Amino acid sequence: MNEPAGVTFSAPAKINLYLHVTGKRDDGYHLLDSLVAFAGINDTVAAQPATNLTLGVTGPFAPGLTVGPDNMVLRAARALAAAGVTSPGAALTLTKRLPPASGMGGGSADAAATLKALVRLWDLHVEPATLAELALGLGADVPVCLRGQAVFMGGIGDEMAAAPALPPAWLVLVNPGICLSTPEVFAARGGDFSAAARFDAIPADARELADILKARRNGLTPAAVSLAPVVGEVLSAIEQSEGGLLSRMTGSGATCFGLFSDADAAARAALSIGESHPGWWVKPASLEGDATRLPSLGR
Ligand code: C5P
Repeated sequence: MNEPAGVTFSAPAKINLYLHVTGKRDDGYHLLDSLVAFAGINDTVAAQPATNLTLGVTGPFAPGLTVGPDNMVLRAARALAAAGVTSPGAALTLTKRLPPASGMGGGSADAAATLKALVRLWDLHVEPATLAELALGLGADVPVCLRGQAVFMGGIGDEMAAAPALPPAWLVLVNPGICLSTPEVFAARGGDFSAAARFDAIPADARELADILKARRNGLTPAAVSLAPVVGEVLSAIEQSEGGLLSRMTGSGATCFGLFSDADAAARAALSIGESHPGWWVKPASLEGDATRLPSLGR
């Protein structure tokens, strides 16, 4: 008998092109309005058939990652097994290429990729609504990562509406090598709430997209900068890059992105920022409105 083949799914970085905090619920969760897209850079989750559930972690950010029961990959696997009424046997391998706790939704993307991989491996027939609910139970950003397409995200992350097509554009992603805790950033946020700021226009090019985004912001930036002033340095390093159209933080930080019209300008900016700040994680990547077609980078 042939050994059933394993499966590998990509877990792309999530980018909040803008993020407005529009209110707060009684349970402490914040209401958001955000345009979420993805970057052509990812973790991967591979699943092989096995009797027991195990997780191995490789990749540049494997050291320091906890593989306890709180790990998003293991939580996703257990939750799916419970929903699918199956035993959670799988040998999982997470290749961690995105810095953890960095505003790019790495843990959420890993959880979403785990759900996709195990639905396939276990041949489960789970209703999309059940899967979406399960994803939300794992974290506010997991549903959007499961969908893998640019959306306007509302509610606490559970409401999604299709976004206009995004033009070809490139990013430079910069993380100053620190972890910021999402709850701490939300807790440090002060001041008024922002209005939702969705738009219908289809930006013709990266410059038009940048102009639209400049009228919006990431409402968590002041809080992140107050907790980690280096985020301000990251933003100004990106701002000074030649050809940069926009400099902004993603999610609750500390990763920030620069937006560029072409891949060469993004690559040059990444090189220059990396040279001046050897301790920072700096990567050029494409901006992706549809991450479901991205090939997996690395295993
Ligand atoms: O759901 P997730 O684990 O991503 O959220 C982590 C924490 O971030 C929450 O416990 C909450 O403190 C904060 N949060 C929030 N509003 C959101 C998402 C997260 O206040 N919409």
